[in-house]
Amino acid sequence: MIPEDRPITHSLSLPDTQSLPEGDKSVLHVWGKASLQGHVKISGAKNSALAIMAGALLCPQDCRLRNVPLLMDVQRMGQILSSLGVKLERDGDDLNIDASHIGQSKAPYELVSQLRASFFIIGPVLARLGVARVPLPGGCAIGARPVDLHVRGLQLMGAEVQIDRGMVNAYVTGGGRKRLKGARIYLDYPSVGATETLMMAATLADGETIIENAAQEPEVTDLANFCRAMGAKIRGAGTNTIVISGVERLHSVDYSIIPDRVEAGTFLVAGAITHSEISLSPVIPDHLTAVIAKLRDVGVKVVTEGPNSVRLIPGSLKATDIETLPYPGFPTDMQAQFMALLTLSEGDSIITETVFENRLRHVAELSRMGADIRVKGNNAIIRGVSMLSGAPVVATDLRASAALVIAALAAEGKTTIQGLHHLDRGYDRLELKLRQLGANIHRVKDDSEAPTEVEAGA
Ligand code: EPZ
Repeated sequence: MIPEDRPITHSLSLPDTQSLPEGDKSVLHVWGKASLQGHVKISGAKNSALAIMAGALLCPQDCRLRNVPLLMDVQRMGQILSSLGVKLERDGDDLNIDASHIGQSKAPYELVSQLRASFFIIGPVLARLGVARVPLPGGCAIGARPVDLHVRGLQLMGAEVQIDRGMVNAYVTGGGRKRLKGARIYLDYPSVGATETLMMAATLADGETIIENAAQEPEVTDLANFCRAMGAKIRGAGTNTIVISGVERLHSVDYSIIPDRVEAGTFLVAGAITHSEISLSPVIPDHLTAVIAKLRDVGVKVVTEGPNSVRLIPGSLKATDIETLPYPGFPTDMQAQFMALLTLSEGDSIITETVFENRLRHVAELSRMGADIRVKGNNAIIRGVSMLSGAPVVATDLRASAALVIAALAAEGKTTIQGLHHLDRGYDRLELKLRQLGANIHRVKDDSEAPTEVEAGA
């Protein structure tokens, strides 16, 4: 019998983030053949921020997170934490989280269904309370997104897990301390989320947990470093074997999130496709090894300038092949953006998407702009063309929306992009940053307000 949820004993102070753009109806207007120049500041990593916000649930004191990007997904994660009774307060790029008392072990479906990453909270809540009830996150545009590896790992750590009418009900059996127990877990796939869920759960478990075939993404390492800063005992993050020795409790921490390697990669591709020399910081070049290597293959150089800054040196674009793989392989989150680049690269390129089963949906929209792409299974064969033409297009998912912006910057004429709620999930003021680099890109509330090329300063 799962203990009934205790009533929320806190006021639900939602994070007072600045107003994010209304994504659903607004439209981007982009005038192509842009030439970019200057320097762009890279924001904190979305996929770190979301995991670390969940990790803050492990701490019975308040935590201060720095370099937290202003994103719809971060706002939604904040709302989910608030629904559990956690207090959050945004202070510019910083976020104060006080999870000293979690008054609720059940996350609301209407919030979790909007942010599948929120499923990660199941590990910390279970570790803190001995019970957690989290809705099964739905699939999304790019795939079914199952959570079987998360569930299996928690069961190996001693949790009873039942899935009933779309709700994952997990609780620690046995009386007394209600603590998970350390276990040896082999992940059939190096899932980022499953690695993060299980690593967080293990920080407060009794004994040692070993996660084998663990994900090695930089965001996993960032989460591990955050937990270690709170006093967790974690070794091996960033390798395929992570060892966690459970501790009694964790303590307050002030932690700065790493820069977003996918945002940085997106700007590098935008510079490459427009033959522009731009610089970016902060960047951790080691997090971009595969992306920088493939840019070099295409004919574009990326040079490091100081410890956390890189400069793109443009060149003529030629075809290359890409296969997305778990880190340190080529990141699936950069696949759509690179496809946009390859549509204008001389020769035939092949992109193979191996991580998600439905992450080629941007092909149709790029084709509307004149790209020559054929899809066979999880392969896209791209024949470089001499030019793209601006057109009305619709974004299908987060990284596809970035790919369409990139293509629009290089296309002849004007492109209008709808479906910006996808873009706003994962990019912090993208059009503002591109405008600062010289792009002619403007967001309007809806198409009726479309600025003319002159008004928009084309
Ligand atoms: C994280 O998603 C990222 N999201 C994704 O970024 C990223 O694309 C992905 O890792 C891969 O790098 C966040 O960190 C919030 P996975 P996650 O578990 O954890 C299968 C973006 O654009 N799988 O590594 O959900 C799954 O179906 C987003 O920023 C299972 O089969 O990814 C997929 O095919 C998109 N069972 C593969 O593993 C499970 O229990 C990789 O998924 C879990 C995953």
